[in-house]
Amino acid sequence: MEFIEYYNRLRQIVEDELATLVTQERPRTLYEPIRYILSGGGKRVRPILSMMACEAVGGNPLHALHAGIAVEVLHNFTLVHDDIMDTAHMRRNRPTVHKKWNENAAILAGDCMMPIAYQILLKTPSLSHLPELITAFNTGVIDVCEGQAYDLEFEQERDVMLNDYLLMIEKKTAKMLELAVVAGALIGNAQQEHIDALRRYALAVGTGFQIQDDLLDATANEAEFGKRIGGDIIEGKKTFLILHATQKATKPDDKALLQKFYDEQGLLPDDVPLMIDLFHRLDIINTTQCEVERSMHHAHEALQALPDNAGRKMLAHFAEMLVQRTS
Ligand code: IPE
Ligand code: IPE
Ligand code: MG
Ligand code: MG
Ligand code: MG
Repeated sequence: MEFIEYYNRLRQIVEDELATLVTQERPRTLYEPIRYILSGGGKRVRPILSMMACEAVGGNPLHALHAGIAVEVLHNFTLVHDDIMDTAHMRRNRPTVHKKWNENAAILAGDCMMPIAYQILLKTPSLSHLPELITAFNTGVIDVCEGQAYDLEFEQERDVMLNDYLLMIEKKTAKMLELAVVAGALIGNAQQEHIDALRRYALAVGTGFQIQDDLLDATANEAEFGKRIGGDIIEGKKTFLILHATQKATKPDDKALLQKFYDEQGLLPDDVPLMIDLFHRLDIINTTQCEVERSMHHAHEALQALPDNAGRKMLAHFAEMLVQRTS
């Protein structure tokens, strides 16, 4: 089967499951925001990874569906809270939850999605690995919180090093992808060596994925990306692009623009095109693209430790697809 056909089939299964997940009506200000964020589309990367990982270790991918949906619900919970922290007004081409309702509704929706995730996890057909699954889920959520805390701390810091950045993105983004594959692999009764290979794969994919998200903030088409272009520049985020621009800038005007970004913890919307222009002139766009490709290359290497089967091939295609993404 063609990869894209396989991906779309898994994605449809995920959409169908998510559409019937939350049926409660009242209180409306709790359940409507939850249904809204879960029905907003998105690439559904995490549940698809769970199913592919399960298949790659010889399991039935559908047995990992519920665990994958649980990770997707957790991911959506982190997005709702992330949009409050990042004062983001648009996601998936729609108003964010705290804009459409208010911050209190967004906080509560997120809170409630956490137990909803655990409820769906418990629908997994065989729960022989439940303790390991729960441990992986708990660690994953704590890691995201730590990563998000670093992300916010770094807004205030002048000297964020590349290693600090890499730890931050591993925690806030890559660890959820790791959780997705580990859950799928556990459900597929994987041997330890294969779980470890999948972990390495997911951490590499996740790192590339976040660096690319940083890149798209400066280069994407807003309608395709579904989020405001330049949001990271306005918020003062220490992205891969900003860190590299800081190292490379030599012209006084460029240094002054970066100084303004650091002093004011972000730029005004009118100055965003200046920073994007600087990224292009200093070849930061190209450097960032190369770094994404390097991460995906590491992901491919990690897959070599898995048996050569259809699941592994799909994971390889998946990493390829993510490098090409525009949203
Ligand atoms: C957005 O995640 C947050 C990041 C970790 C970069 P996705 O890019 O997976 O968002 P959706 O779910 O497809 O909308
Ligand atoms: C978010 O990183 C990672 C999460 C844990 C949600 P970003 O703040 O860059 O994600 P987007 O760009 O808002 O989707
Ligand atoms: Mg954020
Ligand atoms: Mg954000
Ligand atoms: Mg982002």
